[in-house]
Parts: sequence; structure tokens; C-alpha cells
Amino acid sequence: MQQHICPASSLTGTITLPGDKSISHRYAMIASLAEGATRISNYSTGADCRSTLGCLRSLGIEMEGEGTDIVIHGKGLDALQAPSGDLDAGNSGSTIRMLSGILAGQRFASRIGGDESLSRRPMQRIMRPLAAMGSRIRAREDQYPPLEIEGAPLQPIDYTLPVASAQVKTCVLFAGLLAEGETSVTEPVRSRDHTEIALREFGAEITVERQRITIAGRPKLSARELSVPSDLSSAAFFLVGALLVPGSQLTIVGVGLNPTRSALLDFLSAMGARIRIPELESRNGELVGDLTVEHSSSVRGGTIEGSLTAALIDEIPVLAVLGAASEEGLTVRDASELRIKETDRIRSIVDNLGRMGVRAEEFPDGFYVPGRQKLRAAEFDSYGDHRIAMAFAIAALACDGESVIHGAESASVSFPEFWDTLSRLAGQTAATR
Ligand code: S3P
Repeated sequence: MQQHICPASSLTGTITLPGDKSISHRYAMIASLAEGATRISNYSTGADCRSTLGCLRSLGIEMEGEGTDIVIHGKGLDALQAPSGDLDAGNSGSTIRMLSGILAGQRFASRIGGDESLSRRPMQRIMRPLAAMGSRIRAREDQYPPLEIEGAPLQPIDYTLPVASAQVKTCVLFAGLLAEGETSVTEPVRSRDHTEIALREFGAEITVERQRITIAGRPKLSARELSVPSDLSSAAFFLVGALLVPGSQLTIVGVGLNPTRSALLDFLSAMGARIRIPELESRNGELVGDLTVEHSSSVRGGTIEGSLTAALIDEIPVLAVLGAASEEGLTVRDASELRIKETDRIRSIVDNLGRMGVRAEEFPDGFYVPGRQKLRAAEFDSYGDHRIAMAFAIAALACDGESVIHGAESASVSFPEFWDTLSRLAGQTAATR
């Protein structure tokens, strides 16, 4: 699918966004291990989170509701059933990595895989700790999906993560739920902590001391009523869009502002962006608030490196676009993880910047895009990656003519409503071909 996008005169209005992808996955998986009916409202509409529900259904979990309000009937830690065929994680790294922690502790074998992009993503990072806990997993070429997981009684573990990854941390903590005794995970830098918050909500005993998280195995998890905040990583596209396009004034309602996710707001504010959060509330242990943002005639630019890179990892594609229009440009380092996301995001960012005439220098672990560059209308390629499609759609709003996004359908992995929301806000009808 192609989307044709014209320059926008402003981005103005009030929007709501789909439920947070990270939180939706976790609520669904934990609800499946809890006892009773968990009601989840504002569950993500993205294809990734639908993949999680599909896998859980194949494991015998009953559900009601089709849209964003769902009920998951859990029957406790040991109630999953052997699937009759392969589990399909689609495009979703979160689904395969997190669910593998649960599959590793079952009394049955399972096989989980996904689409072409997922089949190229490394799984050694979860296979190693799960093997140390007693599970036997086979992978294509020893590291790629599909994974054949035998299922075994698991031993607790005290594990130090070699890479900062909330998916791997979650995988080990989920496996730890099924093991007798205490499982600990130490992370090199603090990653998003939705798993810790959600597990506590469901009644698990979990302690956090700096970067070390410990979970007591075999807890009784109780069903809950939960509401998913809007996804800050989806909001990032519209925040940057509003900053770029003169005359913009935008309010985004009910956004998840968990401090382990909200580095984006500090980073943009340090660049000179005017973002306000009138009020904050806590919902199921997660901070939530409305965001207002307006156009900024100049943003400074900056450097993303070290632990900040991990904190902004999903927002880097759209920040690259802002970097080109900023005063001082944007440098990104310590980001080699970007090369093994849904696509090689460093390559696809630099390539798409080049398509609109923006110079950028590529490094093995990042890139530098000088500031004060003109954005020219172009034909962009999503490379099948939702965040690349949406980042360059935002760039197109500030270009000097009509642009085209090829592979625009990939946005639906996290944000199926993206194109409609964009055309409503920008006051244009984006033609779809
Ligand atoms: C996620 C963690 C991050 C992030 C991904 C979602 C999560 O991946 O990029 O979009 O929900 O835990 P890593 O764990 O690989 O860093």
C-alpha cells in the first residue's frame, strides 16, 4: 500500500491514540496465568498485540471481546494447553521473546515463529537464560525463529543481562513465575518497567533494588480490571509533527508517562520544545496524563548516547527527522540494537533521509544528521517497518511537495489508525493506493 502525503498547514486538534503496545502484551500474558476474568480496556489495536492474543487462544485461553475492550479468562499458572499447531507471533519480537519464558515452563512442547522479519531476529538472548533454567530450545541456525521449546520444570536463576532489553528481562521474569524459588535479573541500564508494575498489580511478590529485580516463584496471581494508557511511542510521531509544522497546537489524551519511557519528553524539552502535562494520575501503577504541544520555530538538536539510547530506542526514527530540521543536528551512538529491530533501522533511517536530500553520516552504532537541512518531497520506503513508515510520513508533512510512503501498511503493526488520524489532524485526505 502507498500513502500520498501533502505538506500540512498545521497539526491541530485533540487526539486519542491506541493503547500502549508494551503494556498490552504484558497484561494479556499475565492475565492468562492469573485466576479469574481480567477485564482490559483500551487494549492496543496493533497487529503485534493481536498476535499475542492469537497465541494465547491457541494455548487454550478463552477470551471475550474483539476490539479494545477484552476479557481474558485465566485459570492459573498451570492451565495452558498444548497448541494443536505452530504459534504465530507475526511481526512481534515482544510476543515471541516474552511468551517463550512462559512456554519454557510448560509440560508440553510448542513451536513459535513469525513473519520474514521476525525470522531474522536473534533469539540467543532469551535461549541462554532459559537453558540455564532447565529448558531445551532449538532454533533455526541456533539463533533464529522458529523456536522449538520442549517445556520443562524450571530452576530459578540469578541472571545478569548482557544487553539492555526489557523483552529479555520480561522473558526471564515470566519463566521465574513458573520456577520454585526466587529468580533475579540484573540489567545493565534500567529498561522499561511495565512488567514489574503489572506483576505487582496481579499480586506477585517482586522487589526492585536499583537494577536488580527479584520475583518469588509460583505466586497466586489474581484477575484484575485494567486500563491501558495511550502509547507514548505512538504519540512521539505527532509530537514531532506538531513541533515541525508551523501553527500546530495539539493535545494528546491519556498518554502513558511511565518514567522509564518518558525520556522523550525531557529530551524534546531540552531541545526547546514546549510540551505541557496539566495533570498526572496513577492508573494500575502506571503514570498517565494529557500532553499538549505546539509548534516551535527552532529546536536545538542534541546527542543520544549511553543509557539515553536505550530509553529512546523506539523514538529514534522520528527524532532523526526532527534532527534534520533542528539547529545543531542529531547524533545517535550506542544504538547497534537498532540494526536488529523490525528492520535495520540505522540503514533505513539514513536511506530515507537521503531520499529527501538530507545528508547524514552512518556509523556502525548510530548516525549523525546535521541540522538546518531542507526536507524535499520524496518517495520513501518503510522497509516493512511500522516506525520507519510513520517517521517519514511525519517528515512528509514538512516537505516541499507531495511525498509517497511505500509499504505504508506496516504502520498497522502498532498503530492501524495512524493514517486516518494523520489526515484528520493535517486537514488533508491522504490518498491510498
Ligand atoms: C519492548 C522493548 C524494546 C522495544 C520494543 C518493545 C518491550 O525492545 O524496542 O519495541 O515491550 O519490552 P528490547 O527489549 O529488544 O530493547
